[in-house]
Amino acid sequence: MNLKLILIAIALPLLAVVITFATTGLFTPLPVRGSHDVLSQADRIHFTGAVGPESLAFDSSGGGPYTGVADGRILKWDGGDWVEFAVTASKREKCSQPFNPAMENVCGRPLGLRFHAKTGDLYIADAYLGLHVVGPNGGVASPLVTEVQGQPLRFTNDMDIDEDQDVIYFTDTSMAFYRRQFIPSILTQDKTGKLMKYNISSKEVTVLLRGLAFANGVALSEDRSFLLVAETTTCRILRFWLRGPGAGKHETFAELPGFPDNVRRNSIGEFWVALHSKTGLISKWAVSYSWFGNTLLKLPLTFKQLHYLLVGGKPHAVAVKLSNEGDVLRILEDTEGKTLKFISEVEEKNGKLWIGSVLMPYIGIYTL
Ligand SMILES: *[C@@H]1O[C@H](CO)[C@@H](O)[C@H](O)[C@H]1NC(C)=O
Repeated sequence: MNLKLILIAIALPLLAVVITFATTGLFTPLPVRGSHDVLSQADRIHFTGAVGPESLAFDSSGGGPYTGVADGRILKWDGGDWVEFAVTASKREKCSQPFNPAMENVCGRPLGLRFHAKTGDLYIADAYLGLHVVGPNGGVASPLVTEVQGQPLRFTNDMDIDEDQDVIYFTDTSMAFYRRQFIPSILTQDKTGKLMKYNISSKEVTVLLRGLAFANGVALSEDRSFLLVAETTTCRILRFWLRGPGAGKHETFAELPGFPDNVRRNSIGEFWVALHSKTGLISKWAVSYSWFGNTLLKLPLTFKQLHYLLVGGKPHAVAVKLSNEGDVLRILEDTEGKTLKFISEVEEKNGKLWIGSVLMPYIGIYTL
C-alpha cells in the first residue's frame, strides 16, 4: 500500500468516529465545576454590517467602547450608534464585506486595542498589518512595528502598555500561520509565537519569549512586576517576570478549561480571561496528540466543520476571573450559548463586564 492509501485507511474510520461523536453530542464539553451559568442574562449591542468585535477599549474620559471588527475598521460606540473611528489600511475599495478572511491582509484585522491614557493615542495590534497607533481623533493609523529582526510579523494579536516605562508588550501568535489559519495553527501545535517589548521613544523591539503555542492575550499586573500572556493551544496563562529575582523567567500562572483569548485586568488587580470555547474530547485529543490533529486537518472537512469539532459542538461562552496570584476566583458561563458565544475579551468597568467576540455581530454587557 502506498502512503496515501494508508492515510485514507486511517482517516476514514476516524472520520466515522468523529461524525458519530459530533452528531450524538458525546463530545460536548461539560459545565465547569463551580461555574455560574449567568451570562445568558447579558444585554447585547448589535452591529449593522459588521462582525467580530474582538477587543474593547475605553478612552481616558470613559468614551466608547471602541472595537476592531472583521472588515478592518475600528468603531466607537457613541451611546446610541457605532461610528467609524479609525482604520489600519488606507486603501479600502475592496473592504465592504463584513466578513471576508481572504481580504484581511489588505483591509487589516484589528485585534487587541489599548489607549495610552497620557497621550490619548490608541494602540492597535492588527493581525496582518502589525502594531499601529492612531491619535485621539482617529483616522488612518500609522504603523509602528511590521517586522522584527528582519522577519515580518505574521499574526500580531494583543498588547498592554506600561505608561511609566513608555513600553508596549505585544504578541505575535505565530511565524507560520495567518489569523485566518488559526485552526491549523492549533491542530499542528505550532510553537512559533512570540512575546515582545516595543520601546515607544527608541522604537526598539526586544523579543522576551519565543516558542509559544499560539501567543494571544497580554496583560500587565497592577504593580507591573509581571506580565501575563495567554498560550491558547496549551490552555494556559503564562507569567513572565519583569522585575525581582525571577526577572526574565516565566512559569505557568493558570490552567484553564478551554482556549484563552484576551486577558484584561480590572481596577483591583484581578484578571478576566475570555475563553473562545471550552475543550471537549476532540480538542483535548487534538492538542495532546499531534498525529490526531494533523489527521483531522487532512480529512475532507470545511473550516466550519473543523471549528465545530474543536469547540465541542454547541457554541457557548466562558469568562474566568483570576486573582493576582493565579487562583480562579469566578467562572461565568452561558453554557447553552443563548446570548453569548465565542467570546474574546472581558473588560470590567463600573460594575459591568463588556464582552467582545471574534465572530459574532454584537458585544455583550453583563451587570455584575
Ligand atoms: C527606551 O529607550 C530609551 C532611549 O533609548 C532609553 O533611555 C530607555 O531606557 C528605554 N526604556 C526601556 C524601558 O527600555
